[in-house]
Amino acid sequence: MSTADLAVVGLGVMGANLARNFHSRGLTVAVYNRNPAVADAFHAEHGDPRLIDCRSYEALAAALKPPRIVVLMVTAGRAVDAVIDELRPRLEPGDVIIDGGNSHWPDTERRHELLAPTGLRFVGMGVSGGEEGALRGPSMMPGGDRESWERLRPLLESAAAVSDGGPCVTWCGHRSAGHAVKMIHNGIEYGDMQLIAETWSLLRNGLGLGPSRLREVFAGWNGGRLGSFLIEITAEIVAAADPQGSAKGTTPLVDAILDVAGQKGTGRWTAIDAIEAGVPLGTITAAVDARALSARLDDRRRAAEIFAEPPAPLAGVSEDDLEAALYAAKLMSYTQGFDLLRTASRERGYETDLAEVARIWKAGCIIRARFLDRVHAAYRRDPSLPLLCLDPGFADELRAALPAWRRVVAAATAAGHPVPALSASLAWFDTMRQARGSAALIQAQRDYFGAHTYRRVDAPDEIVHTEWSELQQLP
Ligand code: 6PG
Repeated sequence: MSTADLAVVGLGVMGANLARNFHSRGLTVAVYNRNPAVADAFHAEHGDPRLIDCRSYEALAAALKPPRIVVLMVTAGRAVDAVIDELRPRLEPGDVIIDGGNSHWPDTERRHELLAPTGLRFVGMGVSGGEEGALRGPSMMPGGDRESWERLRPLLESAAAVSDGGPCVTWCGHRSAGHAVKMIHNGIEYGDMQLIAETWSLLRNGLGLGPSRLREVFAGWNGGRLGSFLIEITAEIVAAADPQGSAKGTTPLVDAILDVAGQKGTGRWTAIDAIEAGVPLGTITAAVDARALSARLDDRRRAAEIFAEPPAPLAGVSEDDLEAALYAAKLMSYTQGFDLLRTASRERGYETDLAEVARIWKAGCIIRARFLDRVHAAYRRDPSLPLLCLDPGFADELRAALPAWRRVVAAATAAGHPVPALSASLAWFDTMRQARGSAALIQAQRDYFGAHTYRRVDAPDEIVHTEWSELQQLP
């Protein structure tokens, strides 16, 4: 008998937890995993009549109430195409396939086009919050047609994290918008993490703070405008004792971790997308570069021998200065991320509501943060706000934070502490706030060597070329 409200395909940690989450909301969930051993283990641990054990796609399709809803929680990439190929002949027009993995949005576009003629509906949905989020309530970012969203809405709202702004799920826009929103979420996540890591390093190596003081500082910041999941876990991480090794229990575990940052690719996709769209994304790109640099361990070790000059203590900078710098730089990162999202929405016709995106990031996801409330309010007040940092409230905060931010970047640079994201954020801001910058010289050079032409300030509609070598030189 067809009793299942929805199906989950893929019982890895995220899929299993999402299935259990739906189940815990009173839904009947059909579940399938390609490897029977994984399905066996899942049912041995969580077995329940409302978790229907399907051992084939036929059984899965038969278990579902029509119109069917199937959530794919398989590794992004070829596996998604393979499962769609298997499912297609077993589903009917009107059924919905949701891809809940970290798929790259161009793949989601392609799958949309592939499935459109079949009458099957396809929803690319970002899911954030890690294992815990999937189980207790993630932030979910579905894209696709509005009709599918209205149908899915009660199910997704029942399983989503809830903030004071409601369930952390919304329609993110047409076609691949959900995966684009999730990609940018991850780009912002990269920016946040890099900024926090740089600040931690300055507190520690520049101001000489020990583990317990570091914990206090981050915990204190977590109580203020920087309050966020990433700051909260950082407070715990910085003072966590190493449970093994020769100094067992007396040194921080983080000191025993090789400083080579992993990356699955979503941050890199964000940076590539921004470059292709011509959106300046300095903070996030610096964060992606910093991960790439961290991976060059052998080269770094060599360079450290050749340029053996350890960073000096930070002069003239307080803990409060670092808080202000981190906050201001974080605001740049969100300004850039939302700028990219606005551009993507405009260029690809997503119709994404930026205020809604800020609202659904308030709980459940990795970048959940207190200040998203204000991001939400800023875009509600002015949906056409060109850049987040131009919102009057944020602009006031930026003005106040600016002297400290400059002090931090200047002192860190003078003392030899690398602060790629803090400084790229400041450079982005300083460039953005210049009504007249240095690009005139670039235009002149282009015109000089390639007759690429330029436009004059006093006649901006005219295209001009000059024979530069024939001009008189000023005395
Ligand atoms: C989330 C996370 C998640 C991502 C990890 C690791 O929102 O739950 O973004 O989707 O896989 O954060 O990403 P990296 O391996 O690229 O750091």
